Amino acid sequence: MAIREVLRMGSPVLAQVARPVERFGTPELARLVADMQDTMAHEDGAGLAAPQIGESVRVVIFGVTSNPRYPDAEEVPFTVLVNPAITFLGDEVEEGWEGCLSVPGLRGVVARRTRIRYTGFDERGAPVDRLAEGFHARVVQHECDHLDGILYPMRMTDMSRFGFTDVLFPGEDPGRDD
Ligand code: NI
Repeated sequence: MAIREVLRMGSPVLAQVARPVERFGTPELARLVADMQDTMAHEDGAGLAAPQIGESVRVVIFGVTSNPRYPDAEEVPFTVLVNPAITFLGDEVEEGWEGCLSVPGLRGVVARRTRIRYTGFDERGAPVDRLAEGFHARVVQHECDHLDGILYPMRMTDMSRFGFTDVLFPGEDPGRDD
């Protein structure tokens, strides 16, 4: 287990389509997930995708517990999701500010689907099948985009709402990146 370097936008690995995991319950997959968990905790992130630590495989983790620093943040269950698939439920979209550990210091507004179903497996191969909405759905969509080489600025349609976090939100704690 180790804290790994988080790659930043411009790294070729972040632009690749990651390959599916073919074998579950292996020491290699357990080590990857442990490294991702250590790294996300170290960075105080809301989520992390394997390509962000240089591993081009379809593994994401995410989770947010209630925190007095972020009284308005919705809780998201801590989840390991391998080979994820997302189904959009309805056409509703909502805009929200996003940040990314691979795009440090910046925030931008991205429209995401409000309600989704996501499926996949944990690192031992147990199925995951959940409905999510709001912030939870946003985090899952952001993380899964990483597996297809998409960073949130590539989803933005209004670049006037893109800027440096400390300039956009002076004196505020804007929450976590993912
Ligand atoms: Ni990200």
